[in-house]
Amino acid sequence: MTMTLRTNVEKALNDQLFEELASFYLYLAMAADFAAKQLPGMARWMEVQAQEEMGHAMKFYRHILERGGKVTLQALPQPQTSWESPLAAFSAALAHEQHITSRIHALMDLARGEKDYPTEAFLQWFVNEQVEEEAQLEPIIHRLKLVGDHPPALFMLDRELAAREAD
Ligand SMILES: [Fe+2]
Ligand SMILES: [Fe+2]
Repeated sequence: MTMTLRTNVEKALNDQLFEELASFYLYLAMAADFAAKQLPGMARWMEVQAQEEMGHAMKFYRHILERGGKVTLQALPQPQTSWESPLAAFSAALAHEQHITSRIHALMDLARGEKDYPTEAFLQWFVNEQVEEEAQLEPIIHRLKLVGDHPPALFMLDRELAAREAD
């Protein structure tokens, strides 16, 4: 027996689709800011992250449709266009992912409360992904704190981050 999406779950999934698209927009804005500041490695890292967020958004899009729900796209707010330092940008990225983690957990609570087992199974991938998202930012932030105001160390870190490959 297939189970159709309940209205409240459909709304929460659409809200998360919006959150993932807003994440895409945020990281693309960070990529553009790094590119403008001649930090191509950090720009590349954020471009890959932005693409990953588009992938997350598409997972929600497909899940809603597969369940017979309706996708409702919301307007994206204009993201911030400039960050005062790489440390400020990566710290903002971590704070953003912590926000996303709490949203995913709230969504999981809702799916469980509604006994929506397919959505619960779908969300498990995101629970794991959020652990990775936060864990990958922490060492970069740690390194940026050590780098401080030392340009040669910053350019070395930039070159390392350029190696990030698209999934
Ligand atoms: Fe995401
Ligand atoms: Fe990821």
